[in-house]
Amino acid sequence: MKIELSKNKVFFEDNGSKKEIHPFWLRERVNGESFVDKGTQQRLFDPTELRKNIEIKQLNLSEKFLEILFNDGVETKFEIQNILKEFSNVSDLNFIEKIKWDSTLNNLNNFSFKENIFEEKIMYEALLRFYKYGFVIFNDVPTQNNFIVNFANSIGSVRRTNFGEFFNVKSKPNPNDLAYTSLSLAPHTDNPYRNPVPCIQLLHCIENKVTGGFSTLVDGYTVTEKLKSDFPDYYKILTEIKVRYQFIDQNVVLEDWAEMIQLDENKRFRQVRFSPRLDFVPLMDKEKLELYYSARNKISEFFNSDRYRIEFKLKPGDLLMMDNYRLLHGRTSYDANEGERFLQGCYIDYDSTEGKLKHLKRKFNI
Ligand SMILES: [Fe+2]
Repeated sequence: MKIELSKNKVFFEDNGSKKEIHPFWLRERVNGESFVDKGTQQRLFDPTELRKNIEIKQLNLSEKFLEILFNDGVETKFEIQNILKEFSNVSDLNFIEKIKWDSTLNNLNNFSFKENIFEEKIMYEALLRFYKYGFVIFNDVPTQNNFIVNFANSIGSVRRTNFGEFFNVKSKPNPNDLAYTSLSLAPHTDNPYRNPVPCIQLLHCIENKVTGGFSTLVDGYTVTEKLKSDFPDYYKILTEIKVRYQFIDQNVVLEDWAEMIQLDENKRFRQVRFSPRLDFVPLMDKEKLELYYSARNKISEFFNSDRYRIEFKLKPGDLLMMDNYRLLHGRTSYDANEGERFLQGCYIDYDSTEGKLKHLKRKFNI
């Protein structure tokens, strides 16, 4: 990647392809005290108010800098490195490659909590693990005074829902969700009926005195990629049909329509929604429904198979942070008469973790 000049034009050259950089693109990036606020890096001018026919009058390129005089009289000096950065994807989190895993995974991404962890390099490493594997576990996180909320707000901000700022997961009478029973919970993603679906779930173990009650995780990315290669017709229909997901209680009716496997603009995995107690497929041709049901059964078989599921016991102080767009979670059943099993949960959104990761990257010059 490099910058080249030719007759008052600036070119960006990468792998043999050479393209002119629009002069306006450069003009709206002018720096210096009268154009950009030093602290916030926000523009002090409105580029929509600039004249459109911006041209370059003079150019000078040295090893590190590009100096430009524009036809509206504005002069600026760019660091070449900063221009090149805009063309690379180094700050793009999509570039952190997802690592597929199944039941053979034995490193559970454990990190010890310490007081200032949110501003330390170890937090950067933990977040990187989170993006690679879809989950990370912090050990010895304080369990008093709903500390999960402090934890969440130290990474970003809690995403409040109708379950509250955070929720207590223990068996209780007349529950409005199966989570609040001692029944086993098959692997599922949370809240597929919300728009947007909460991105990340934190689950903090306060007490776990029962013999059962193991936490389970399945990598939805691994499973959907497997479906793609082994059962392409099933994969296709699950990425195409929008299903209605719904949640109803006395106070609210929540519903949203979405594909079970949602892809991004490049047809790559973006999100899985799987909660077979809450999904309602639209009425379609019998043959199409037949295919849909076969596909749903197959993916359910994969999600519930021992081959993909990891199972582990959270102990008091353990805080599991998982990607609700990628991973499915569940638990094994337990006997509530044996003692208390008490977890607290809350949600945060991706901008929290992305913002934190980028901040730590900048702070430690990584
Ligand atoms: Fe859940």
